[in-house]
Amino acid sequence: MGDRGSAWTDLEWRWMADFPSGTYDDFLAAFPGTTRSRKSFINRRSEFRRNNPFGPSFDHLRANSDKKVDASGGWRAWVEPMARMQELDAASRTDQDYARIDLETEQDIAVALLSDIHIGSWSTDPRLVERTIDAVLDAGCYVALLGDALQMAIRLRSVGEVMDNQMTSRQQFAALSSLMDELGPRVLWSTHDNHSVAREEDAIGWSPYAELMGRHTIYHDGIGTIELRLYEGARFVSYRIASSHKFRGSTGRNPLAGQKAYMRLEDQDVDVAVAGDVHKPALEVYYEGGRRRVAVNCGTLQTNSIYARRHFSVNARTDMPVLLFGAREKRVTPFMDLKDFRA
Ligand SMILES: [Fe+2]
Ligand SMILES: [Fe+2]
Repeated sequence: MGDRGSAWTDLEWRWMADFPSGTYDDFLAAFPGTTRSRKSFINRRSEFRRNNPFGPSFDHLRANSDKKVDASGGWRAWVEPMARMQELDAASRTDQDYARIDLETEQDIAVALLSDIHIGSWSTDPRLVERTIDAVLDAGCYVALLGDALQMAIRLRSVGEVMDNQMTSRQQFAALSSLMDELGPRVLWSTHDNHSVAREEDAIGWSPYAELMGRHTIYHDGIGTIELRLYEGARFVSYRIASSHKFRGSTGRNPLAGQKAYMRLEDQDVDVAVAGDVHKPALEVYYEGGRRRVAVNCGTLQTNSIYARRHFSVNARTDMPVLLFGAREKRVTPFMDLKDFRA
């Protein structure tokens, strides 16, 4: 019921101008048989009070001034400059979601997965870090850095947390920079993480860690996909590798859940999915969707974390898995750690 859709007549507006305090009953008396509802009447009266068409004009009071108005051209004027800036930003970035690595080799190649070293933490064993890096160098492995290379306890959640920095954040960054120089072109790719990248972004809006990685090697700012191609003459074997610091679903209790879910639900062409973060080394070779899959997670060199000892386990597992990629035949052979690989 009511008058929805029918505009008020001049006569009705005129009545409202003549009887600004008139009630709905007065209105009904003035317009017997009207279909206007009480709600409609009240709404129209509010509108009338805001903008009385019969009221005095204020035009003669309008001053002449240099009042500034929006002369930009509105939202459309922003479109092209913003698009151009986004192109420039994309061109200046060194991170990438997809990458291809070509290696000419007759030999199978080994890639050591290094993650969660947590350099600079009171609870990281520095001698173990040195032994691990030496073992990688001695084994002649390539390297993938899957995040949390530094402790970077710069989140101001508690005094205790920040006190876990044995090295200052500058010292940690310098250590990483020199480690990257030492590893050199062995580092085939790297990923984002939560200890440096996310915390630096929280603190200053960008990540020096990500910039360093991106200038040194392939850097994935999110889940990344590598196409690794091993050449021998005209023949090549190709591997598709998904990497992230962590895939959603992985936990310390089930460290491969995220990697496997990713290969099942997001990219069925992936041969190998690798991650770190949960500090639990694990590997699994299995078949799914007609393809041989390898899921791997790294351990940690942070052997004495009170956080881990209180919430997860008193045992820190320091295994850094190695993947052996076949050069002649497509086959990925995973090893739980460098010792297994060298045995
Ligand atoms: Fe970690
Ligand atoms: Fe992490």
